[in-house]
Amino acid sequence: MSDQTHDQQGESRTFPPDPDFAASANGTADLFDAAEADHEGFWAEQARTYLTWSTPFTQNLDWSNPPFATWFADGELNACVNAVDRHVEAGRGDKVAIHFVGEPEGDSRDITYAELHEQVQRAANALADLGIGKGDTVAIYLPMIPEAAVAMLACARLGAPHSVVFGGFSADALHSRIEDAKAKVVITADGGYRRGKPSALKPAVDAALDHDETSVTDVLVVRRTGEDTAWNDRDTWWHEALERAAPTHEAQPVEAEHPLFILYTSGTTGKPKGIFHSTGGYLTQAAYTNAIVHDVHRDTDVYWCTADIGWVTGHSYIVYGPMTNGVTQVMYEGTPDTPDQGRWWQIVQDHRVTILYTAPTAVRTFMKWGAEIPARYDLSSLRLLGSVGEPINPEAWLWYRRTIGGDRTPVVDTWWQTETGAIMISPLPGVTTLEPGSAQRPIPGISAEILDDEGKPFTTPEQVGYLVLTKPWPSMLRGIWGDPERYKETYWSRFGPEYYFAGDGAKYDADGNIWLLGRVDDVMNVSGHRLSTAEIESALVSHPKVAEAAVVGASDETTGQAVCAFVILRQEAVAEADEPGEGEALVQELRNHVAKQIGPIAKPRQILVVAELPKTRSGKIMRRLLKDVAEGREVGDVTTLADSSVMDLIKKGMDAPASD
Ligand code: WTA
Repeated sequence: MSDQTHDQQGESRTFPPDPDFAASANGTADLFDAAEADHEGFWAEQARTYLTWSTPFTQNLDWSNPPFATWFADGELNACVNAVDRHVEAGRGDKVAIHFVGEPEGDSRDITYAELHEQVQRAANALADLGIGKGDTVAIYLPMIPEAAVAMLACARLGAPHSVVFGGFSADALHSRIEDAKAKVVITADGGYRRGKPSALKPAVDAALDHDETSVTDVLVVRRTGEDTAWNDRDTWWHEALERAAPTHEAQPVEAEHPLFILYTSGTTGKPKGIFHSTGGYLTQAAYTNAIVHDVHRDTDVYWCTADIGWVTGHSYIVYGPMTNGVTQVMYEGTPDTPDQGRWWQIVQDHRVTILYTAPTAVRTFMKWGAEIPARYDLSSLRLLGSVGEPINPEAWLWYRRTIGGDRTPVVDTWWQTETGAIMISPLPGVTTLEPGSAQRPIPGISAEILDDEGKPFTTPEQVGYLVLTKPWPSMLRGIWGDPERYKETYWSRFGPEYYFAGDGAKYDADGNIWLLGRVDDVMNVSGHRLSTAEIESALVSHPKVAEAAVVGASDETTGQAVCAFVILRQEAVAEADEPGEGEALVQELRNHVAKQIGPIAKPRQILVVAELPKTRSGKIMRRLLKDVAEGREVGDVTTLADSSVMDLIKKGMDAPASD
């Protein structure tokens, strides 16, 4: 049986909350009791605590027409007013909202809430001048610059749902998203900085709009790099439009259920799903979770979420959650190794960052680069670390706490999805005894269960099942844009209409902690035994020579599926493995290591040592492509890869003789 709580020294550690931390933590144990006693009343109280309503609501949840929920439906509010105006009105206009750090060294600026206030008003007026009003959709295709937040908030100010498309997506992907949402205006930039160089964005917009028919009438272009760019009649410079626009703008209150944004995410079919979110319910849970899980304290913290604004994490935990809470945050434009591998730690040191929220893939990359890099910086300001996006293996969790958190900070592993809008399962840093590698419990107000194949809930430890959410929550998706049937079918049919099917495998441990085990399509069945790719990856990464691992289940005539692993070695092990005969020996050692950690059944049939893994630009490993290689198929669509040459290298390695 696996024992994921043991790190490579075979040490099992849990971390009770530090009493000093607990004494001032926002997330307290009594929240669990309050939510348990009155689920809807609890959420209504959060909605009143965290938000300012122009028309107070009297209705809570309406679940009379599942799976279509409404929350606080007769209330009215404006998301931009909540995120910006009210902080200025309360006298905190001089507080820094964003410490912007551009990728080129020295290119940084601070933006106060008062400055943000002026910009969102001007931008709202500029959009209104282009005919944008309540209910019109606006596509945003920008690098990680403050204008991205300004653009989103300006849309919210007008009641115009935004659809942010990640700047790494191609023109084709942008085109289909623009047309699906029928966006009238696109907000983009000439380019941004990546890996030390300007990288153009506007040409992709031009190509996306180069079709006979388009819903887009105007394009606003932020000048970021200053490089030459082709110009069309529909284009206007953002700075000129804002200069011309009036500096004050009255925000438009909208009903709580008015869609705040659409965000496309990939599903099992080729067509991306336009997940859309409400205003009141979404904002309530984004702000509440940012307070109780990230434990932000407005007057003392400097918060940094490293996500890109193009993903839901950037929406909920750069823009809507933290700004509604009025915090000061860092926004960084570029990559972690520009100009060198210490860049993030330099930023933490310079801005005395107190809370850092990032993805496990980043943590494992830093592990690969070595602990001596962060050790050169003063990271003593950090008091909380967070993780999101994929399971964080205990080894990476412990490294993160020890090396980045100075053996001092809590690490919160937060499980949620684009669809859930905000954090759902996570420790509360002032309450929970932390179990490295586990997201642990649903937060107060959230209910989850694990179901078996027949849809029966169970709590048996170590038995793998499907994670479901059993009660509506305020920030739940309100649907798939323009496709209510697909919404029902994808999320509310697998186990019947009362269970939201998350698509993730999960299990309990003996202490009742929930372990997320990756997408269910990543759960393998080897000789009738269920194995999680995440579990085997965790075992591999717990080996001292392994930096990163990706596991796929490849079809196998005898066993149904077989485990195929792709591993990146730590720097010190690379040279060693190149010695004659050593590569084979190492592969054998790793296979035995997995067998020892989990059981002989989990022993990978094949382990391929690779230099890189295929990752999307947001850092997710594309297991689908690895599966193609492992199953000897032509490799599928590689257009969303950050570096498409990676697959060629891996295929070459695969063609070389395999281990036994
Ligand atoms: C995975 C990102 C394990 C999961 C916020 C989910 C996680 C998908 C975790 C959603 C976590 C996210 N532990 N797995 N802490 N967080 N996931 O929509 O498979 O980009 O279904 O939202 O990421 O990814 P999405």
